[in-house]
Amino acid sequence: MSTEALATAVGSAAIVLFAGGALVLAPYLQLEHIEPSPGLRPYTPEEAMGRGVYVSEGCVYCHSQQPRDPAQAPDDQRGWGRPSVPGDYAYDYPHQLGTMRTGPDLFNVGARLPSADWHYLHLYQPRAVSPVSVMPSYAYLFDHVDTVRPGDLVVKIPPEVQREPGIVVATPEAQALVRYLLRLDHTAPVLTASQEEQP
Ligand code: HEC
Repeated sequence: MSTEALATAVGSAAIVLFAGGALVLAPYLQLEHIEPSPGLRPYTPEEAMGRGVYVSEGCVYCHSQQPRDPAQAPDDQRGWGRPSVPGDYAYDYPHQLGTMRTGPDLFNVGARLPSADWHYLHLYQPRAVSPVSVMPSYAYLFDHVDTVRPGDLVVKIPPEVQREPGIVVATPEAQALVRYLLRLDHTAPVLTASQEEQP
């Protein structure tokens, strides 16, 4: 092997090792032992199922779950809550941080909008509560039935908004999704990044 070829091989290996160390190993070691934020508990089975619906419906394409520090964006003035910290995501795998904000940040939507009825109507037809909303209707997460069966959760949808005639019943997926949304409450105080920086 010529000296040039050897230098290229050693140089390339050094770059790959350095990049792997800086971008993979260092963050892994830094974030390996993150404790859950105070008051945060693991998801119940129904909340976890609702989280799965959130992931599979692609809510992340329009909603972030990462209120930012006031130094970066006025998210606190938007009513989206305190800046998130790593411990807030201790039970989130895969996390739903998101990069798009076509709609509001949802990390504290359970604290902001604590009514299940509101969420059912909004999911069924966003424009029933927010007239110019571009959010899609998730009416397919609801059944339209003639008679109510035992255990059915009937939701109040105004007749002019209904997609089909009948009594509107929330499917288990819709119920789980709403449980998950109500659970999105990370308002318990913690030391945020910019507070930690202050002397
Ligand atoms: C195409 C983009 C888009 C998608 C996809 C989308 N949303 Fe939205 N969402 C919006 C917009 C825009 C708003 C603000 C207007 C409104 O309230 O409908 C919104 C508002 C909301 C709100 C009210 C938040 C607040 O603070 O007022 C909730 C809750 C919500 N969305 C949940 C969801 C869930 C759950 C999903 C997936 C099942 C979803 N969204 C998918 C665009 C989207």
